[in-house]
Amino acid sequence: MALVEVQSVWKTYPRRAGLRSEQHAVVEDVSLSIEAGETLGLVGESGSGKTTVARMILGLVEPSRGAVRVDSLDVARASGAQMRRLRRKMQPVFQDPYAALNPRMSIFQIVTEPWLIHGRQAGVNGRPAALRARGAELMREVGLDESALARHPHELSGGQRQRVNIARALALRPALLILDEPVSALDVSVGAQIVNLLRRLQRENELTYLFISHSMPLVRYLSTRIAVMERGKLVETGETEALCSHPRQAYTQRLIAATPELPGAEE
Ligand SMILES: Nc1ncnc2c1ncn2[C@@H]1O[C@H](COP(=O)(O)OP(=O)(O)OP(=O)(O)O)[C@@H](O)[C@H]1O
Ligand SMILES: [Mg+2]
Repeated sequence: MALVEVQSVWKTYPRRAGLRSEQHAVVEDVSLSIEAGETLGLVGESGSGKTTVARMILGLVEPSRGAVRVDSLDVARASGAQMRRLRRKMQPVFQDPYAALNPRMSIFQIVTEPWLIHGRQAGVNGRPAALRARGAELMREVGLDESALARHPHELSGGQRQRVNIARALALRPALLILDEPVSALDVSVGAQIVNLLRRLQRENELTYLFISHSMPLVRYLSTRIAVMERGKLVETGETEALCSHPRQAYTQRLIAATPELPGAEE
């Protein structure tokens, strides 16, 4: 079984229609799987339902119909203990690198917090010296200087903040990162560095990625396979090169024709 199985998932929200309220589907019968070690790119225009799918995988939004299984566990039905195990296994990185960081916490507190929450179950040594060593190691892994640990989020650039978010996501050595537009809020050149960092981290840690973006060139650069969403539906899925060289849908062709914003040299 794949690491992630999304099985005929729907998400509907009530919408006012005149005097009545009716259900409006923002995700409609979506099925996809993510194999361990691959990057699945999820691409589509704004409002197509990408974030809603991501939030259902993370267990933050409950499907109206269908099921999501991560590591064979039904996310919506997981017990508290099972959910904590899943949280260690999959971690999100969101678009806005500042909103995700508590401004009152130091970078050291931010990147070591997951241990304090999950510490014992994750088999982590919570002694101060061990925390300091792991904090420093995480900074190195994401290409930040160790001195960043003493700083606060507002003292860092957007790219550095996103590196901190990635460091925190990696703190418990997860298997899966859910990357929802992780570079969309950054300048193209800074975003390219983050994309290349993600590639390096994946190689070094055998990570599995769900990489969400509205940018087909970025998705193409990073993904093993691509899934295309249009207005709540999955319209096309395929191996990256096959899908990009022979798109079946006009919608996919339009996404491919969008302006390139390809990253530069590899890290
Ligand atoms: N809690 C909610 N209640 C009602 N409608 C919602 C809710 N969350 C999302 N939607 C609607 O669902 C649709 C899909 O939203 P979603 O955020 O999943 O799209 P997206 O593909 O991630 O878009 P973007 O590229 O802009 O991030 C949108 O029309 C959105 O307005
Ligand atoms: Mg979104």
